[in-house]
Amino acid sequence: MAKIFSGIRPSGKLHLGNYLGAIKNWLELQNDSEQAIFAVVDYHGITTPYDSTTYKQQVNDVVLDYLAAGIDPDKSLLIRQSKVPQHTELAWIFNTITPIGWLDRLPNYREKLDQVEHSSDISAKSYQNNLALLAYPVLMAADILLYKSSLVPVGDDQKQHIDLTNEIGSKFNHLFGEVFPNVKTHIVQGARIMSLQDPTKKMSKTGDDGIALSDEPDVIRAKIKKAVTDSGKEVKYDEKEKPAISNLLTIYHLLSGKEVNAIEKEYGGKSYVEFKNDLAEVVVSFLKPFQEKKKEFENNPKGIMKILEVSEEKARKLADNTLVEIKDKMGLL
Ligand code: TRP
Repeated sequence: MAKIFSGIRPSGKLHLGNYLGAIKNWLELQNDSEQAIFAVVDYHGITTPYDSTTYKQQVNDVVLDYLAAGIDPDKSLLIRQSKVPQHTELAWIFNTITPIGWLDRLPNYREKLDQVEHSSDISAKSYQNNLALLAYPVLMAADILLYKSSLVPVGDDQKQHIDLTNEIGSKFNHLFGEVFPNVKTHIVQGARIMSLQDPTKKMSKTGDDGIALSDEPDVIRAKIKKAVTDSGKEVKYDEKEKPAISNLLTIYHLLSGKEVNAIEKEYGGKSYVEFKNDLAEVVVSFLKPFQEKKKEFENNPKGIMKILEVSEEKARKLADNTLVEIKDKMGLL
């Protein structure tokens, strides 16, 4: 049985892409693991422009989303990264053994740099090529290895970060002695949900591009109506020729449990409009129980705080155990 760790940046509302690409798997894994820790990685979230006046609220909102989606605090630890300071402490230690050359070639870094530099947000200027943007994956390696995690359920865009985590872990083991296990990525096949407006891009934000887990039924209906479709009129899965319809079919399949073939048959001879109308109802009814649970949690802020504090206290203990071992090996004790 594995030790699981995963995290999501609190950079916006969680959307269907986050749910189907990551959280859905976490729910299965938490039932069958030796240890499961899920984090809101708020220190990662501040490496790109953010609003300090709403950040606390944003972090709490992701916590509510996790709980409403079914992360069970009896089975998993649910933590805010910044409340377990050992994450940044280990990141500093890892900084000392990570060559810059391992970091500045990573495509995720190049992309973020580009985003910050071309952002229309004026506050983005003060973020240009900051050191933390470069060191981002080192903190991620610390998140994972701090708990000696061995399995990380993430989307395939994070694969290179996990490779780097292993490079850092094995370099440490080599230099100071065996501490860290090898980490495996747990990637969900077929759960790369694309933007509703541009099916060549991953769903990474809400607005017209993505459906937030907390979107009201009418908002969902309007977004799906507006979703781009492909030329032709057949509801058919074909990633190359029909990327938009294929994405909508994937969402339909994953939320309804019906096989893609069966859905294609059901809509044989029917229009895109009919298909989209039904898909909207599939999404609305799928999200209904989630939204009801979220409201319950929203009405219980004290209970939520308690869950976080208990988890974070346990996480600090686990983290301390590893740090003592690390510091001992490094001559820091
Ligand atoms: N980099 C991840 C992302 O952008 C978020 C993340 C931070 C993470 N630390 C992590 C994911 C540790 C898994 C494990 O999605």
